[in-house]
Amino acid sequence: MASLLPTTTTTLQLNRTICFSPLKLSIPIAISFSTNRFKSTSAKCNAVFGDIPKDLLETTFHLDQFSVFQSVLVKFQHVTEDLSDVQRWGFVILAGLTWAYLTARPGVLVGAIDAFLLAPIQLVLDSLSGRRNLKRTDFLIGDKLGEGSFGVVYSGVFVPKNVDAQELMQKNGRGKVKKLDAKSKDKVILKKVKVGIEGAEEFGDFEEWFNYRLSRAAPETCAKFLGSFVADKTNSQFTKGGKWLVWKFEGGRSLADYMTDQNFPSNLESTMFGRVLQGVDSSKRNALIVKQIMRQIISSLKKIHDTGIVHRDVKPANLVVTKRGQIKLIDFGVATDLRIGKNYVPNRNPLDRDYCPPELYVLPEETPSLPPEPIAAFLSPIMWQLKSPDLFDMYSAGIVFLQVAIPTLRSSVALKNFNLEIRTCGYDLNKWRASTRMRSDFQILDSDSGRGWDLATKLISKRCSQLRGRFSAAAALRHPYFLLGGDQAAAVLSKLSF
Ligand SMILES: Nc1ncnc2c1ncn2[C@@H]1O[C@H](COP(=O)(O)OP(=O)(O)O)[C@@H](O)[C@H]1O
Ligand SMILES: [Mg+2]
Repeated sequence: MASLLPTTTTTLQLNRTICFSPLKLSIPIAISFSTNRFKSTSAKCNAVFGDIPKDLLETTFHLDQFSVFQSVLVKFQHVTEDLSDVQRWGFVILAGLTWAYLTARPGVLVGAIDAFLLAPIQLVLDSLSGRRNLKRTDFLIGDKLGEGSFGVVYSGVFVPKNVDAQELMQKNGRGKVKKLDAKSKDKVILKKVKVGIEGAEEFGDFEEWFNYRLSRAAPETCAKFLGSFVADKTNSQFTKGGKWLVWKFEGGRSLADYMTDQNFPSNLESTMFGRVLQGVDSSKRNALIVKQIMRQIISSLKKIHDTGIVHRDVKPANLVVTKRGQIKLIDFGVATDLRIGKNYVPNRNPLDRDYCPPELYVLPEETPSLPPEPIAAFLSPIMWQLKSPDLFDMYSAGIVFLQVAIPTLRSSVALKNFNLEIRTCGYDLNKWRASTRMRSDFQILDSDSGRGWDLATKLISKRCSQLRGRFSAAAALRHPYFLLGGDQAAAVLSKLSF
């Protein structure tokens, strides 16, 4: 049998992750081998792991992983039988580089697995479970919660199986809906996509696509999507042919609603930590709540960005707080998937200017459209490296950070003034602080040696010519503000005390 690797004795440094459940330790193992030892399969294994006691291998290395490694070696040997040593090394290096490229952000490989495997599986499972067969008569529509250019949002309930929804509405009107609503565990949120408005149908389709995609890739970051239906009849709020999207009702108040209270952020304390934090003075408690809010938002953004999606409308009204204190992102109608170029129309949708970064677009304006999906997907790791489109959302997260931390910036008038001032300061937050005419309380951001303020300056900033110069979600989470945070400990302790 031809030799596997160059004929000289070689030391291979393997970084194996060894699982001591529940801990995972990554330890380097130096393995010495020479070609002559690779005579038979078992001899190879003995040679490779010869210095490691067998029982240690069995208990810690997981023999299943070991045999996979072993069979990969054998296959590799077969495939490269006729190649020279140099060619064989070239093959290994090329395979490594290909792997690195396919798994680099935003994940060409994972994206392809999602599109060609997970999405069809989800479709089949959903069809079997009835999630794709929702219909108008399954719901009672309640109060209107909001209206955007392309859709109207209502609260609602799933109608119990033995009840005729339409009859119920006719007999009892809205009062009955409210009663049912109060009792039902099956509260939902419904978004009616407007009919006859240019671009609305497309907007609804995109929102549905993004919700299905995230329900597979990062379900914990957003409201649970239950599916969609097309109205089969025109009556009350329904228009025949109009599409409706349905989500689980995640909570009665958004972060924007909580922020309107005088006692924000302490009104979130027992929701977030399960109880009032004892033995900590109130300003420190407020700082911990703010940190926990921002940690959740930025952690979710990191997960979403890792899938290639940029939300483009991050703001307190699009962050729903669940009764367990989780913050969920909603409203993916203007999101864009830059892994495959989905919904990338740079200037079509009117974004919320109050939270929009100065560059206004996720990619430079001169990028009018992206190539077809397969090509866009193939080029996406390079594009993410060069353009960092995710930094668009990070500016919005920075504005949310200022608003939750500085009471006087919470009103929309104050935010507009801030935006005027920061523009004249060239989006330099330190300059703004030195020159602002607004009276702001920086106590929360200045606590802990001003780590919060430092992070804010790295989120609210202009992007430099390489389109960087602002923290990504991953970089923000590595900032000392989060690394040295007591909010996680408080959250864990509160959960333990439940
Ligand atoms: N899944 C949900 N759970 C609870 N409330 C929600 C949910 N989805 C939306 N809402 C509420 O409805 C409002 C409007 O929803 P959104 O999707 O942002 O639509 P719009 O396009 O009108 O901004 C939100 O601000 C929030 O208060
Ligand atoms: Mg919204």
